[in-house]
Amino acid sequence: MVHKLYVAQVALSSGHRPGVVVIGAQALDCPDLCLHRSAMTPVPLIVGLGGTTRPGSTSEQALQAALAHARALGCETLCFVGAGLPAEIYDPARPERSDAARELVDALRRADGVLVSTPAYHGGLSGLVKNALDFVEDLRSDERVYLEGRAVGSIVCAEGPQAMGSTLASLRAIVHTLRGWPTPFGAALNSTAVPFGAEGRAADPAAINACEMVAAEVVAFARMWRLAQV
Ligand SMILES: Cc1cc2nc3c(=O)[nH]c(=O)nc-3n(C[C@H](O)[C@H](O)[C@H](O)COP(=O)(O)O)c2cc1C
Repeated sequence: MVHKLYVAQVALSSGHRPGVVVIGAQALDCPDLCLHRSAMTPVPLIVGLGGTTRPGSTSEQALQAALAHARALGCETLCFVGAGLPAEIYDPARPERSDAARELVDALRRADGVLVSTPAYHGGLSGLVKNALDFVEDLRSDERVYLEGRAVGSIVCAEGPQAMGSTLASLRAIVHTLRGWPTPFGAALNSTAVPFGAEGRAADPAAINACEMVAAEVVAFARMWRLAQV
């Protein structure tokens, strides 16, 4: 069965806040394809989080490249960056959650795979991204605890190789703690090289390829995991 797919950006029309982008795949030549797919081979949901407070940061562009590839592989995606990430510090003593936190936790609860893209700050994850990951604690009592059964792809953007390595290692340690499956390949990108292009320069194909490899591993794991549950 051959299906023509297109991606539709429905974020702003579906009531999500700025920084939250929902993109789905829909059939043009088979109106009930979504029903077919959910009955036979459900479309995996890949959730991406990361970036910085600067719109268009290297880590945000890397995340978008990875999520675009996940969509090209037939997945639906949700993206939480910048203002779409919780602004408040995670507080386990307070049950109240902001809209940003609730949407992030809800998306991660439904996710079949996760992509995290962080800048290296002082040799580790940025506070913004680590704080977002702290909200995974809200999945502690779920049937699927934390990120159980989900591959998590890591993307790190840094100015130097030392921070690329240390940040990638600490991100993977966090993923392990959250019972996720860190992908074998992680992307480490040099932000000083402006890998996604600037001032008329084209994006670096190696950087795009690295992000796509991470995404492909997350998607492959999501599909394998589903098969293993049958
Ligand atoms: C507070 C702070 C700490 C940083 N620490 C490091 C570091 O330890 N090592 C490094 O290579 N780059 C470091 N950087 C540079 C960031 O990794 C870089 O700004 C990031 O990759 C995002 O690039 P962008 O300008 O495209 O958003 C730091 C940047 C900031 C703002």
